[in-house]
Amino acid sequence: MKIGIIAGSGLYDIKNFNLFEEVSLDTPFGQPSSPYKIGEIGNKQVIFLARHGPSHTIPPHKINYRANIWGLKTLGVERIIAINAVGGINRLLTPGDIVLPDQIIDFTFGYRCSTFYEDDKVVHVDFTYPYCSEIQNSIYETTKKTGINVTPKGTYICVNGPRLESAKEIKFFASIGADIVGMTAMPEAILARELEICFGALCIVTNYAAGIVEQKLTTVEVLNTMKKSAEKIKIIISEVLNYIPLIRKCPCKDALKDAQL
Ligand code: HPA
Repeated sequence: MKIGIIAGSGLYDIKNFNLFEEVSLDTPFGQPSSPYKIGEIGNKQVIFLARHGPSHTIPPHKINYRANIWGLKTLGVERIIAINAVGGINRLLTPGDIVLPDQIIDFTFGYRCSTFYEDDKVVHVDFTYPYCSEIQNSIYETTKKTGINVTPKGTYICVNGPRLESAKEIKFFASIGADIVGMTAMPEAILARELEICFGALCIVTNYAAGIVEQKLTTVEVLNTMKKSAEKIKIIISEVLNYIPLIRKCPCKDALKDAQL
């Protein structure tokens, strides 16, 4: 079992991550954001990818999501855990909290290339449950065992960015059931599904979403909260591999079955 971790930069210094090699790939869709860092945690193979590039220079709307996911598939990854910074819409959430989302609302639709099937094949992949429940349950088990507090469910609304939202947009997003807002879950989640890779996520609430509190939103705040939460994320990542079942029983592995015209 190989696990891919898609994260911002700065998470590779996980104590028990043993780096073997860095691999730069070219894909039919162009170049991934960064070289893949291939190594082991315990005796489990792990491949890290810095979504925004090695020095965090690629904004969310410019990420080559297809190349990133294709590269992970090429390297044999069957399961992905994505780490996302998000704004908290649900008033029960405060900066520093961790949410394990179970649903997605896609507001990037039409702006980002969100399929591998554009030309000769017509494929409609089931996306009723965008996140792999086996992975999300494994992360939840890990957090219970390690005493890290998380919100086990939540709806992630994905916006195109790079600007942040207006207060009324956030009010609207709350009214349609969104708990957290971010810029990177889509199309990552659907592209993984189209390649029958399980996709789970850990979302760190880095700030109150616009208008939730009367305070200007800053990128500095987002980065500072992310840094403060890094330790918790590292603990979860280094432990979660012990909880993810070796054999996949989830529907993700058969996502293409009966999906093609
Ligand atoms: N909005 C959108 N994306 C984000 C936010 C936000 O408030 N915080 C971190 N990523």
